[in-house]
Amino acid sequence: AVVWVPCDAAAVSVGADAVAEALTAAGATVRRNGSRGMLWLEPLVEVETERGRVGYANVAPAEVAGLLAGDLDDGERCVGVVDDYPWLARQHRVSFARVGVIEPTDLAAYRERGGLAGLERALTLSGEDVVREVTDSGLRGRGGAGFPAGIKWETVRTAEADVKFVCCNADEGDSGTFADRMLIEGDPFTLIEGMTIAAVATGASEGFVYLRSEYPHAIRTLRRAIDIAYAHGVLGESVLGSGRRFDLDVRVGAGAYICGEETSMLESLQGRRGEVRAKPPIPALHGLFGRPTVVNNVLTLSAVPMVLADGGAAYAALGTGRSRGTQVFQLAGNVARGGVVETDFGITLGELVEGFGGGTASGRPVKAVQVGGPLGAYLPPARFGLPMDYEAFAEAGAMVGHGGIVVFDDSMDAGAMARFAMEFCAKESCGKCTPCRIGSTRGVEVIDRIRGGVQREANLVLLEDLCATMTKGSLCAMGGLTPMPVRSALEHFPEDFGVDAGTAD
Ligand code: NAI
Ligand code: SF4
Repeated sequence: AVVWVPCDAAAVSVGADAVAEALTAAGATVRRNGSRGMLWLEPLVEVETERGRVGYANVAPAEVAGLLAGDLDDGERCVGVVDDYPWLARQHRVSFARVGVIEPTDLAAYRERGGLAGLERALTLSGEDVVREVTDSGLRGRGGAGFPAGIKWETVRTAEADVKFVCCNADEGDSGTFADRMLIEGDPFTLIEGMTIAAVATGASEGFVYLRSEYPHAIRTLRRAIDIAYAHGVLGESVLGSGRRFDLDVRVGAGAYICGEETSMLESLQGRRGEVRAKPPIPALHGLFGRPTVVNNVLTLSAVPMVLADGGAAYAALGTGRSRGTQVFQLAGNVARGGVVETDFGITLGELVEGFGGGTASGRPVKAVQVGGPLGAYLPPARFGLPMDYEAFAEAGAMVGHGGIVVFDDSMDAGAMARFAMEFCAKESCGKCTPCRIGSTRGVEVIDRIRGGVQREANLVLLEDLCATMTKGSLCAMGGLTPMPVRSALEHFPEDFGVDAGTAD
């Protein structure tokens, strides 16, 4: 039998390698895919049949002989044909279309499933036309800020310089986010193709993926994929025989959250301490080594191959409002069915948390979700009608960010989480500006006083004043966004600060 066993970090962490070894020993032909993103089912073993790939959940090595003999066919452990499994079938996978389906570094399989069509088309167009497709697609930065990718690319394209760069930010530091990792571990050629298209569009000749050291599997898979891309002429001195040069390399970060901020990432890439640079000048004009640089997140660049293959209009047809295309959401924390959900923008928060996530893993009521990483807002179930849309979230005092959604049950203490936000900022601050470096430490103290009942009213005023100073006065989003979780926790859960609902505002 031909059997698929995921090789990504999520599956490996629950024993997928041992399952693969047991299957090989039992005589099966084992192939390794990325995870399908249904993490509560891992290790999810798929057996090729005439009906398609049939999945078996949570397989242990000792069960392998029984699985091959059909013993698990009738029980709950058999999830049926994986492509038809409702949790997966209800998604709209564009960037993740091949993740979990192919072997991550199988370039032939990548091509068979539509890979390289976007790059091939880009090579027939002028740089201006490639950028126009991206602009028309409405694609916005998936790292969190949502800046239009086409405008950024046009700035780089029209800049005059001896050399230009494409840098991919894969320093996925937000708590509860793992889509960058899963894409790189499951389908790295999509990212390589997206970066190469960005280079073709803007005239860049060198690229770097800044990948965090906490992702050893991703580092290995991406390096292998880059080697294969060179060997097959996708990268190097003549991209797909076009005569255009593009060199790509991986640089490994050293664990600082702030190096996910684009300018400190560039400093780190240059071998310096990861300290934030003041903007302007923007990296699009003055980036790596002072040269024009495209800096985009993994998911932004991974949307590009489809945009070029199918045209910007096809991508723009998906989504809602000014949030076009799909977003890769990540369900984490205390959630029954955690994992990766790629859907068009416009799905509601409730559909994600209750519909896909199935509520909490503990079975207790959901108290709050934090959307957009540790600097994102805490939202109660009363806000579950919010559509996933950059503008709708901004209006609600929240942010979509990188699409991470962390679920908490009713045992969560929102006051402690607000304190944690300030503490996190104090730990991770690069130290360059005062509101963040000092404000975060003062923030911990003020929240402690509020929670301890010490001059509560006066300290609430002080906390709001501190939040306003950090928001307005910080040099980057680290200090600038830390007040978001603090304010939202106080707004929605004043009782966790020892404050009556009536006095919080
Ligand atoms: P920003 O709004 O300053 O910039 C967004 C991007 O647009 C940057 O790349 C910037 O260089 C570029 N840009 C701005 N004006 C431009 C112009 N006129 N021409 C060309 N390019 C231009 O936001 P920033 O500070 O880069 O990111 C903040 C966001 O990062 C937050 O909203 C948060 O959601 C997100 N974030 C993501 C994390 C992650 O792990 N993915 C971690 C922490 C924060
Ligand atoms: Fe550094 Fe914080 Fe200022 Fe950002 S806000 S530049 S992390 S001190």
